[in-house]
Amino acid sequence: MIQKEFKVSYTEYASIEELGPEDRELAGAAIEAMTGAYAPYSHFHVGAAVRMSNGQIVRGANQENAAFPSGLCAERTAMFAAGAKYPDKAMRSIAIVGGVFGRMTAEPATPCGACRQVMAQYQTKAGAPVSVIMIGAKRIWKFDKVDDILPLIFDSI
Ligand code: THU
Repeated sequence: MIQKEFKVSYTEYASIEELGPEDRELAGAAIEAMTGAYAPYSHFHVGAAVRMSNGQIVRGANQENAAFPSGLCAERTAMFAAGAKYPDKAMRSIAIVGGVFGRMTAEPATPCGACRQVMAQYQTKAGAPVSVIMIGAKRIWKFDKVDDILPLIFDSI
């Protein structure tokens, strides 16, 4: 028997101002995107912004539905919109932020498992790491690749 372990390193920033210019712009876009949330049930407004290899930013926000499973998270709304708009471009990074009635959470917004799986596939499609930026009012976390937040990624059968 061999005991094994995963080690993940990531960067914590004290504020958006500490981020590099591109990530700061992406974080700002995610925060703006929160206004597009349609969350009459949870009132939790989530914004996401995806940067593509051509530099373009595509935004998304969570969209809820009376038939609960028919709704969609902000991250997948943004990623699917980006994939549909720029099918020949690679996804480079994604920023996420959330908060009740749009008031940003103190801790960074962490994406759900289904969104991580979708991130993983766009990373495979890109053939290069996709960074994930999780934004909170008190701190911001940056992971350099999806593998860091989804170990043992399911890729294909
Ligand atoms: N939500 C997201 O948009 N992204 C996440 O990563 C977690 C949850 C949304 C789904 C639902 O509209 C609301 O937040 C409450 O779960």
